[in-house]
Amino acid sequence: MAKVPVHNGSLGGEQYVSGLEGLHQAFSVALGQPVYAPIDVSSKQLKILDSGCNTGKWLLDLASISAPVNHQYVGTDVWTEVFPGSLPSNFCFYEQDITKLWPESWKGSFDLVHQRTVLVNARKLPIRDVIIRMTDLLRPGGWIQLMEGDFAPVQQNGPAMQEFLELGKWFFDEAGPGSDMGPRLAGELSSIGLQDVQETTVLVSNGPDMSHPFSMDQLNTLEQRLRQELADIGGSIRYRVVWGRK
Ligand SMILES: C[S@@+](CC[C@H](N)C(=O)[O-])C[C@H]1O[C@@H](n2cnc3c(N)ncnc32)[C@H](O)[C@@H]1O
Repeated sequence: MAKVPVHNGSLGGEQYVSGLEGLHQAFSVALGQPVYAPIDVSSKQLKILDSGCNTGKWLLDLASISAPVNHQYVGTDVWTEVFPGSLPSNFCFYEQDITKLWPESWKGSFDLVHQRTVLVNARKLPIRDVIIRMTDLLRPGGWIQLMEGDFAPVQQNGPAMQEFLELGKWFFDEAGPGSDMGPRLAGELSSIGLQDVQETTVLVSNGPDMSHPFSMDQLNTLEQRLRQELADIGGSIRYRVVWGRK
């Protein structure tokens, strides 16, 4: 998902967070489980990173299904104001930009690295470089799981949802990583030498409250048309989830 203007645009930070929390709910329902990589989260203690974690909801969901095992949970984002407040000491949150180098001491230390709908923020940095830096954080045998949008048309979508996807597609092409980034992920993981790479496609029912300068007329009416269309016939966005082992 494109990062729409958060700090200076028509969506205020609070609206953006509540939009993202709605999106997190939609992801959770569509995915059914936070982890697709075949890693046992219910027995021994693991060290788990969520990059671009926003409010940490994915980590918290994972903690609730992993209890009573208390994993070491690390969340990172550039938007630190939305990190959750008081949490148990096995949760840590840090400022980290995916385009910057990760702390040297983190290398080779994680059992699972997760990142969902953040890669567009790599901008002009090749996503391969961003992924390699994240896999460097894995211990041997550790897993990475990525989830990104796939802009191929969804047959049952109505015209406003399709237009919304076109807007996203345009943004991803403009921003740098390209709108084919989701479908490219599995190939990227294999090409950097990860093992047991798999992928699945999920359809996420979606109605995010976002806008982008695509065409003023479209923008002015898109939200209303999309809301109406979602209320009438619903709409879906296709995502790719891929995972691989170091
Ligand atoms: C679409 S949200 C996804 C949030 C969460 N991963 C999820 O799936 O619910 C994108 C997140 O990426 C963060 N982000 C934006 N640019 C980033 C960057 N360069 N490095 C790390 N995180 C970034 C945003 O602050 C936001 O929390």
